[in-house]
Amino acid sequence: CLAHVGWGIKLGSLGFAAISPAFFTFLMRITYISLSGPTLFKVIVKSLSPKEIVRIYVPNPLDRNDGSFLVRYRMHDTAHEGLKIEVLYGGEHVAQSPYILKGPVYHEYCECPEEDPQIWQRTLSCPADETQIEDDFASFPSINLQQMLNEVPKRFGDERGAVVHYTILNNHIYRRSLGKYTDFKMFSDEILLSLARKVLLPDLEFYINLGDWPLEHRKVNDTPSPIPIISWCGSLDSRDIILPTYDITHSTLEAMRGVTNDLLSIQGNTGPSWINKTEKAFFRGRDSREERLQLVQLSKENPQLLDAGITGYFFFQEKEKELGKAKLMGFFDFFKYKYQVNVDGTVAAYRYPYLMLGDSLVLKQDSPYYEHFYSALRPWKHYVPIKRNLSDLLEKVKWAKENDEEARKIAKEGQSTARDLLQPHRLYCYSYRVLQKYAEHQSSKPAIRDGMELVPQPGDSTSTCQCHRKMPPREEL
Ligand SMILES: *[C@@H]1O[C@H](CO)[C@@H](O)[C@H](O)[C@H]1NC(C)=O
Ligand SMILES: *[C@@H]1O[C@H](CO)[C@@H](O)[C@H](O)[C@H]1NC(C)=O
Repeated sequence: CLAHVGWGIKLGSLGFAAISPAFFTFLMRITYISLSGPTLFKVIVKSLSPKEIVRIYVPNPLDRNDGSFLVRYRMHDTAHEGLKIEVLYGGEHVAQSPYILKGPVYHEYCECPEEDPQIWQRTLSCPADETQIEDDFASFPSINLQQMLNEVPKRFGDERGAVVHYTILNNHIYRRSLGKYTDFKMFSDEILLSLARKVLLPDLEFYINLGDWPLEHRKVNDTPSPIPIISWCGSLDSRDIILPTYDITHSTLEAMRGVTNDLLSIQGNTGPSWINKTEKAFFRGRDSREERLQLVQLSKENPQLLDAGITGYFFFQEKEKELGKAKLMGFFDFFKYKYQVNVDGTVAAYRYPYLMLGDSLVLKQDSPYYEHFYSALRPWKHYVPIKRNLSDLLEKVKWAKENDEEARKIAKEGQSTARDLLQPHRLYCYSYRVLQKYAEHQSSKPAIRDGMELVPQPGDSTSTCQCHRKMPPREEL
């Protein structure tokens, strides 16, 4: 629903911000047909109560180059009554400005979980279904925690493993590490703690795999039956349950706090407009898969179609002499090129969400690996598929060059769908839904096991957090 107002401005309804008052948010969408540049409009976010001093960081709006802007904000204090958001053009309020978010609007580190998950999910406009989650849990009608306790340490818990065992009880998080390579638990901790501050989590006990490859390769009807390990990357020949990757989750949680390459920032940094992009396919990345080296070889032979380079050697060090090493480049510069090649790394390339959010056409290598949102994206609708061995890559680049309108349409459609799927609140919805679904399938009671420790919520020394809800008691260890 767009409200038309004067001065050639179209102001979109406020998206995320307007619908999630009791939640730290940082996205609102303004559709603005620019006549004389974005500097003429101004967004002010402040406490609804004039008496309350609330620190709110509001970076410059991100210009998405299509007449829409993203305005983000990050709360550093809690606004108890709520927020007032003023959108001014030449000093005058436009559309329905000022917008009021009824409070309290908590800051990120305020531990104040909503006790009714349905209310919380409704507030966030979480989708009713996530097909990937339905598919993932179809293999596990019943989750037998005793079977997992018996088998997981033996099968996946060796020294070189990367599996962490979590129990959530009364909204407190406990864990123990099974292997040595579990430093990435800081990322699984981060999303679990963040969720627990916002919504009451179900009691549950599960194993997260922090390594690259999905682990469970048993088939659904095998005896013994497969085990539901939670992973960041899925594959067609494994049964792991997928969460959004640590990469996009972390960059979302820490956006505007040091992370600069996040899913929103990228949308405001997509380089020149379509007609001014270099008409070549582009790739930069590490040497984590052989096809990436082939890509560089192809690029040397066809520099008019492809610009590909390896920025770091580890797996194929002997190839460095022959293929050379390219300079590191930030994502934002990728979008100087019209076509982006997405080739797997060790597993799915975690750059894919970022590439999809740009305004270039993505050429995606066929792959058995996937992240949580891939199933919503279709070849020839949202991206152009290329064979796993890259044998048709050059042909596809030529096709795109010769069919510019069509290519542009696919790029737009892909971008628009990715913008929708990868909104910050959708990541929260998805992660929560996985935990909820898991809890529904548990056939026994979770418990705090030997060697587990409490993962504390980060201290909140810089800002008071008066929560109006009662906190659940902590379980005795
Ligand atoms: C393309 O680049 C030229 C030269 O920098 C610039 O004048 C023109 O406005 C650009 N076109 C678009 C659509 O951005
Ligand atoms: C590449 O893979 C396709 C199957 O997807 C196969 O038909 C083709 O022969 C392969 N090409 C090369 C050069 O290996």
